[in-house]
Amino acid sequence: MESLRRFSFVSFIALLAYFAFLASAEHHVQQFVIQPRPVKRLCRTHQSITVNGQFPGPTLIVRNGDSLAITVINRARYNISIHWHGIRQLRNPWADGPEYITQCPIRPGQSYTYRFKIEDQEGTLWWHAHSRWLRATVYGALIIYPRLGSPYPFSMPKRDIPILLGEWWDRNPMDVLRQAQFTGAAPNVSDAYTINGQPGDLYRCSRAGTIRFPIFPGETVQLRVINAAMNQELFFSVANHQFTVVETDSAYTKPFTTSVIMIGPGQTTNVLLTANQRPGRYYMAARAYNSANAPFDNTTTTAILQYVNAPTRRGRGRGQIAPVFPVLPGFNDTATATAFTNRLRYWKRAQVPQQVDENLFFTVGLGLINCSNPNSPRCQGPNGTRFAASMNNMSFVLPRSNSVMQAYYQGTPGIFTTDFPPVPPVQFDYTGNVSRGLWQPIKGTKAYKLKYKANVQIVLQDTSIVTPENHPMHLHGYQFYVIGSGFGNFNPRTDPARFNLFDPPERNTIGTPPGGWVAIRFVADNPGAWFMHCHIDSHLGWGLAMVFLVENGRGQLQSVQAPPLDLPRC
Ligand code: C2O
Repeated sequence: MESLRRFSFVSFIALLAYFAFLASAEHHVQQFVIQPRPVKRLCRTHQSITVNGQFPGPTLIVRNGDSLAITVINRARYNISIHWHGIRQLRNPWADGPEYITQCPIRPGQSYTYRFKIEDQEGTLWWHAHSRWLRATVYGALIIYPRLGSPYPFSMPKRDIPILLGEWWDRNPMDVLRQAQFTGAAPNVSDAYTINGQPGDLYRCSRAGTIRFPIFPGETVQLRVINAAMNQELFFSVANHQFTVVETDSAYTKPFTTSVIMIGPGQTTNVLLTANQRPGRYYMAARAYNSANAPFDNTTTTAILQYVNAPTRRGRGRGQIAPVFPVLPGFNDTATATAFTNRLRYWKRAQVPQQVDENLFFTVGLGLINCSNPNSPRCQGPNGTRFAASMNNMSFVLPRSNSVMQAYYQGTPGIFTTDFPPVPPVQFDYTGNVSRGLWQPIKGTKAYKLKYKANVQIVLQDTSIVTPENHPMHLHGYQFYVIGSGFGNFNPRTDPARFNLFDPPERNTIGTPPGGWVAIRFVADNPGAWFMHCHIDSHLGWGLAMVFLVENGRGQLQSVQAPPLDLPRC
């Protein structure tokens, strides 16, 4: 009797704990109203496209296991779609967001509800518009805490500071894009970088808006650094302070200390910072890491880390003392960028596929389209050409009348083809002096099919066509392991011997070393149409993209869900 009572008491407690666990997964319902709103920067006011009138947009804070329903209501004059960068969207490409890839855009006056679940992911991600250049102002942080009671692999500071690095044009970014699309030349470079939407002290009319972060002496904080810039890799430092890197792209790393990080568009990096310097004011600053032979925005954005007990000046010239400025690497300091990236390791032993079913080799790089009339106003690129970019010589063109995923799901022909080449159609010395005859890519909407659960390896090889460059390559729907990288041409006989199959960093975006290669591996366990592209938006617009079509496995649990009823129509 007594033992029975004890048993039922124990099972009652277990049941309670189970319900508490279920209840701990929250459902977040939110509206994102896309609307223009006056934003004043660099002395001028622009009608910027925003979410809910906020720039940067709202920070989403959720936990692993939570679900979200975000209704995007388009009250702007442009088509739009929103991408949840880094969220895996298992079997649910309908909520991924890239326009004409997994959905048709949300037209002005229309709405669409993104419904998705966070499944086994935690850390820093972000969301942004995935429609032409709207992400210049439409972006925000997406922070995923671990499930209640599940620990961090490092001692987590009490305070968490999102640092969104952005890029600002003193024009309507959509006009900058439109002009470039007309002329075929490179789009104008930005006028400022921003930290949490503010350019900071070094720009005109910006001092009052400079972001300040108060900090207590001795306190440790976590900075969640997100590169939301459109077209530029960035170096980021805080004067006199060291960072401890603990996470990249929502995957924990083995902690290491550094005074500077390099972060490409699309990437996130969490660092711990301890206020262990003299009470004072210290600039945090970001500026370009420019690996290409091309014009770039060479300005510097700043915010101020301010000790709460920082001394002030007395007497005449009273007030706050000038902040200390950090040492930043030179714009073209590829050695520092590479050294940083090469230090990243997964926090524990990683589940890297040891065997490969799909051995893919993709060249990535720029190109030029020749014009029949090089003097045409539409051919203002180098020597009367138009800029292009490609993967395996295929320059990706977005469909117009349907999305790839909808066409794939419904079996509608004529929207895309599945003949994206697994290796370059022509082999050449990719990083050497490439003959002009190989500079012009072929346009098309090409996808590559993958079997469900295939072990995939991709070597992404930068080319020196037009210019070698770091291309931050982003894969939707997946996290991948970065198992190796190097300069020059990938050598399939010698380089694989040096692959790290033990603790390679896990990411969703990785830069090709300029004039080099990077190798990644993942298991194709998420069926659907998944975009892979350069996260430099000017390159994306020129066609530096392709699509993976991952086939269904067996049964419902390995197949793409049915599309939601409110999925936008083209
Ligand atoms: Cu963050 Cu397809 O992008």
